[in-house]
Amino acid sequence: MATTLIKGGTVVSATGRSEADVLIDGETIVAVLAPGSQLLGTDVAASVDTVIDATGRYVIPGGIDAHTHMQLPFGGTSASDTFETGTRAAAWGGTTTIIDFAVQTYGTKVQDGLARWHDLAAGNCAIDYGFHQIIGGIDDESLAFMPTLIDEGITSFKLFMAYPGVFYSDDAQVLQAMQVSRDTGLLTMMHAENGPAIDVLAKQLVEQGKSSPYFHGIARAWQMEEEATHRAIMLANVTGAPLYVVHVSAKQAVEQLAAARDKGWNVFGETCPQYLYLSLEEQLGASSEEWGDFEGAKWVCSTPLRSRAEGHQDHMWQALRTNDLQMVSTDHCPFCMKDQKELGLGDFRKIPNGIGSIEHRMDLMYQGVVTGRITLERWVELTSTTPARMFGLYGRKGVIQPGADGDVVVYDPNGHTSIGLGQRPDGSPTGRSHHMNMDYSAWEGYEIDGHVDTVLSRGKVIVDGGEYLGSKGDGRYLKRGLSQYLV
Ligand code: URP
Ligand code: ZN
Ligand code: ZN
Ligand code: ZN
Repeated sequence: MATTLIKGGTVVSATGRSEADVLIDGETIVAVLAPGSQLLGTDVAASVDTVIDATGRYVIPGGIDAHTHMQLPFGGTSASDTFETGTRAAAWGGTTTIIDFAVQTYGTKVQDGLARWHDLAAGNCAIDYGFHQIIGGIDDESLAFMPTLIDEGITSFKLFMAYPGVFYSDDAQVLQAMQVSRDTGLLTMMHAENGPAIDVLAKQLVEQGKSSPYFHGIARAWQMEEEATHRAIMLANVTGAPLYVVHVSAKQAVEQLAAARDKGWNVFGETCPQYLYLSLEEQLGASSEEWGDFEGAKWVCSTPLRSRAEGHQDHMWQALRTNDLQMVSTDHCPFCMKDQKELGLGDFRKIPNGIGSIEHRMDLMYQGVVTGRITLERWVELTSTTPARMFGLYGRKGVIQPGADGDVVVYDPNGHTSIGLGQRPDGSPTGRSHHMNMDYSAWEGYEIDGHVDTVLSRGKVIVDGGEYLGSKGDGRYLKRGLSQYLV
């Protein structure tokens, strides 16, 4: 088994930082040593196979993106990143684990949806991966099957209060699924938006000729998110189920979560980089020479980008500091403009929903450290340690300690990363490129203080010095345990 020493860096955890060397034997971290340590009388650096010099840099546990949608079928098309392209892009950006959503829809069997997701992912991933299960059709059969997910290493499921006719569950269905959550320890994840009301508002807007992407954000008003978040919290509380609200974007929804947490309830929430940085006015309302006012389609996602004038973005950052929100995932769900987002030309309801960010989450969240919004330790906690604890991976993932997988990122605080265009559909060069399979970047023009230098996945260097050194199939399926975050 090959041995590696990551030497001379500052090892950062959720609880502190120290100058230390990290020793990896094969796939596993075996020691965190005082700098220049001898071990059993021998100089460690002289006796390992590989030494990685991390002087002047941070050594952090690999990022865990707990909310991704590779190949998600949506709006008559599928998310453009495959497990191969999406996990490779993740690796480039310092993320070494994803948790993707296996999909079940109404009238189909949960086990068939899950088997399909295993088929899509197996042998294709650059990094380790687990699954949550979307339950898009709650009935007696799916309810009866849900407890068996735990044996499959799937300890969380997602319900949708949005998207009637697609993934939607009504309150009666939500309540019954939450009863299973209470009885089994499966964590309920909720897409909290009032879908039926949104669909009426959206139809009325289109009938009034308000059909551009901007009106996606108007139809999906913050009241629709606040109301559904409140309802989800109350349904969870009446059943005794733990609740995790995904992609929180409205400050009023955060207030609902905070109020429930203040009562001591097992209620949690994530936000995503797009809700920290981007806005209704600047992005959904954008226009360009190429696309006119359809430019905003690049940022159509749900929940939608919120008004900066209303202060949602600042509130999300604050909630990350106060732990009213516990973690940051991307909700990575990319679609190209050509042939995909384009489906919604003239009618925003037909734009496939989603933004691609998997490659940029670690960098974008590091800017919170640079600007003094969060500490270095909180950066690690939000992007790696809490995702591991929340979703039953801690110990193996989310921490640099003996016994953990050798998933480590060497991050250069003095480096620089320019985010630019993706590959065009015809494959033509687009200048500085990201690695996600999309024909634009939702983050084009972002200049990042910091740089992912080296990425190790279970002890193997997969990214180093601007080169991808891994291969398709390096990543393994992770059987997760129950959440380690609940009291
Ligand atoms: O717009 C989004 N978020 N697309 C992915 C599906 C979901 O609701 O998470
Ligand atoms: Zn969702
Ligand atoms: Zn999602
Ligand atoms: Zn660098």
